[in-house]
Parts: sequence; C-alpha cells; structure tokens
Amino acid sequence: MLENKGIFAPHAKQVDEAKQGEVFTCDTSNPTDKHFYIESYGCAMNFSDSEIVASILSNNGYSATTDIESSDLILINTCSIREKAEDKVRKRLRIFDKVKRAKPDTMIGVLGCMAERLKTKFLEEEKLVDFVVGPDAYRDIPSLITSAEEGERSVNVLLSREETYADIAPVRLNSNGVTGYISIMRGCDNMCSFCVVPFTRGRERSRDLFSIISEAQDLFDRGYREVTLLGQNVDSYKWSNPETNKAVTFANLLEQVALVNPLLRVRFSTSHPKDITNDVLHTIAKYKNICDYIHLPAQSGSTRILELMNRTYTREWYQERINAINRIIPGCAISSDIITGFCTETEAEHQETIDLMKWAKFSLTYKFYYSERPGTLAERKYEDDIPYEVKKRRLAEIVAVQLEISKEHNDRDIGKTFEVLIEGDSKKSKDDFKGKNSHGKLIVFPKSQNLSPGDYVQVLITDATSATLKGHIVNE
Ligand code: SAH
Ligand code: SF4
Ligand code: F3S
Repeated sequence: MLENKGIFAPHAKQVDEAKQGEVFTCDTSNPTDKHFYIESYGCAMNFSDSEIVASILSNNGYSATTDIESSDLILINTCSIREKAEDKVRKRLRIFDKVKRAKPDTMIGVLGCMAERLKTKFLEEEKLVDFVVGPDAYRDIPSLITSAEEGERSVNVLLSREETYADIAPVRLNSNGVTGYISIMRGCDNMCSFCVVPFTRGRERSRDLFSIISEAQDLFDRGYREVTLLGQNVDSYKWSNPETNKAVTFANLLEQVALVNPLLRVRFSTSHPKDITNDVLHTIAKYKNICDYIHLPAQSGSTRILELMNRTYTREWYQERINAINRIIPGCAISSDIITGFCTETEAEHQETIDLMKWAKFSLTYKFYYSERPGTLAERKYEDDIPYEVKKRRLAEIVAVQLEISKEHNDRDIGKTFEVLIEGDSKKSKDDFKGKNSHGKLIVFPKSQNLSPGDYVQVLITDATSATLKGHIVNE
C-alpha cells in the first residue's frame, strides 16, 4: 500500500512511503468559487478518496488550487500505516500553521486514517486544525466547514457498514487523462496483527456492481484507457444483485469491467494470498485487456511469523498460489509487500523471507521494517523486540536482494517487444513518451508525431536500468 505526499499514485499499489509528491489539481475552477488545497498520503485508496472529497467540495462552491497560500481551505488526507507516515503529516501541519498564521481565515481539515485513529485527540494536540473527518464521513465535510466558520471546531469519525460513496462521481485530480482508479470496496475484515487499517477504515463492504461498471464506462468515454480496481482485499469483493439475488464475485466483476471495452486495460489491487481464487486467475488469462500483473503481499517467508501476523496462510500455501499463477497465466508479473523485523523474527526466519523472494522472483517488492501501531493485535500481544538496527539491516538486505532480482527481470526483457499504453511525456525529456506494459513495467521511448497519450504502441526494448525499460517503437 504507502505514505507519500500528495502525488497521484502511479498504479494500483499503495504509494511508496519514501516517494515525494506534488499537490492535487483539477480543472473545475469557477471564478466565484472558494478554493481548496489538498495533499494526500498513504495508499491508492486515500488518493481515490481525495477525488470523492473533491467532488463533494466542487458541489459546494469550491474548486481545487495548487497554491496553498491563496487557498481558503487546506486539507490533508492522512495515513497511519507506519509511525513515519504520521510523522510526515505532523511535519506538514507545522507548515500549514504558518500559512494560517499569515491568513487566519484559512480553514484546516484533517482527513483519512490518522484522523480516524486519533479522533478528538487531534483537536487537542493540533490547535490550528479546524475539523477532523474520518474516511466514512466525507459527506459531512460541508457541514463541518460551516461549524468551523461559526467558530466550532468539530470531529466526525463515525465508521459505517454501508458507505461506499457509490453515487458520487469522483473529480479526477492531477489526472493524466489515461489511467484512473475505481474504488470497488472499503474497509477490511482481516485482522493482520500488525495492521491499523481495520481500525481506521472499519468493516469491509463492497460497492454496487452497476455503479462500478458505469464509472469504468464513463472513464473510457472520456478517453481513459486504464482503470485500477481498488480495495484492501479485492478477492473478497462480494455483492448481491437485489433484483436477481445473484452473488457477484471478484472474478465476475473483473470480467464485467474487462467487457466495457477491449481497449480499456484493467488492473486491480490488493489481492490477499488466502483469498485469490483460480477463477480470478482464469478470468485474467481469458481477457487480454486484464493486465498480467498481480500484487500479492507475502509479508514474510516464515510460516511461524505468518501465524504471528495472523495472515492465515503458510509459506507453502503462498507458494502454491504463486505456482497457480505461473501455471494459469504464464509470464504474469507478481509483486509483493515484505515486512522485516516483526516481533521475535529470527535470522533464520529472515533468511526464509529472502529465499521466498528469490524463489518467487517478484518483479517488484514494497519493503518495510515493522512499525508497532497502537491498538493493533501485535501491539497488545507481542513485544516489539527486534532492535531498530537489526530491522534496518534486514531491510537493507532484502532491498539488495530485490535489486538483483529486478535487474535480472529487466535484462531478460531486452530484445522483447511489448504493447505499451502511452501515459504522457517522460519525466526526463519532452522528446520521449512514457507508458507501461501489461506487467506494469515503466517503459520510456522516443516520441512519434502521430501518437498521443491513450494510444497503444509496440515497443522493442533495447536497454534497461533497475527501474525503467527503454526502447523504440516498432510496427507503428
Ligand atoms: N491490504 C493490503 C495492504 C495494506 S497496508 C494487504 O493486505 O496486503 C500496505 C502494506 O503496508 C502491507 O502489505 C504491509 O506490508 C505494510 N504494513 C502494514 N502495517 C505495517 C506495520 N505496522 N509496519 C510495517 N509495515 C506495515
Ligand atoms: Fe491490513 Fe491485513 Fe487488511 Fe491488508 S488484509 S489492510 S494488511 S488487515
Ligand atoms: Fe491506506 Fe494508510 Fe489508511 S495505507 S488505508 S491510508 S493507514
């Protein structure tokens, strides 16, 4: 999943913690509007939620700005996943304090998981914050603003069993006009012992199938060519059609979204190893426009640690799922999340994680050292006993292992030709396009005049760095 400042997440996965970002913008500006400025941190779900919030605000006389100093409302959509994520938010609040001191009418609202975790404590700790609102209460933002304008600082952190914001058409922020997120569910019913998400996002609930399909269709009609279906555990998507009483599974949903148009690529995140079914894998194999890429967080390669983490699968189960992916979708890219230094993890168990990474040959891993979170099962039951230096050293070791694996992957791609969806100009040069192949690999190549973002193109790979493939267009 990802604590990151304000950037629009590059793909389904939570945005990497270390990434720096920019601020959201959109093009709904109206001269009579008040202006809001929003920064988002954390996973793709948070970025997607900020688009719901932008929609609610734009229906209430606000438009987005990137200029914090001239804004009337500053929002920060926060993440609690690791301690560092919360530290980053506190640092940003010190900057906002300065803006508010210079312009006291500016409202400051704290949104997201840290708002949910700290609730009223936030108002006690942060004197310049005007309102605090949790992930299921965004419809209430206009009235929280009104209360704040009347001098009453307030909090709404009610979690809901039903809220999916299905009827709210997100206002796309910082969009490249080609790739977009669609939230298909909210919350999480798993209780991974290290994880704060079930406490900050509440119970799992799935969104109405028809609203998902119409959002995908709408994006396609507006020129988008890739959607990423988002949920903390997409494989447990479950919705019943009230007219037919027929249950819709994630495999059914994937198929329906793939059928919107063969030119619309479909991605999804995140899958849980205990829940991903062969039905899902067969659906991916059946449709060319469902990308051959699965993010399947392992967390650890040791069955004993997985048990302490309450992940409810063993190393062998995880390996069997990887074998099934390789069998049913040959060549599918698989990425993962790894936590090092979880409570009581031995050197031998750390080695088991390294061995699993090498065995699975992940195309990409998001790597973290364990950060104890207040209120979680692990915090209550186990001692956070691995010294910081050991956690960091183990993390450095898995970073090095992944670099090697990624390099091997990329070297193997040289000489291959991939279909690439063009997303825009490359960061480094306006003479180059960037885009991704089905495996989610970033590919940079010289532009061609008659192509533009949203087009598909065949690219022959001629060179690779550890993160990016380079090539040139063939068979235009
Ligand atoms: N729902 C997703 C992940 C959500 S959080 C899933 O189940 O995979 C994203 C990632 O953050 C997790 O996969 C885990 O690797 C990491 N993470 C979560 N809590 C953490 C903690 N307390 N310390 C370190 N990393 C953590
Ligand atoms: Fe957290 Fe586990 Fe739920 Fe993922 S599946 S959000 S790691 S509790
Ligand atoms: Fe996402 Fe962070 Fe919340 S990873 S669900 S924003 S705690």
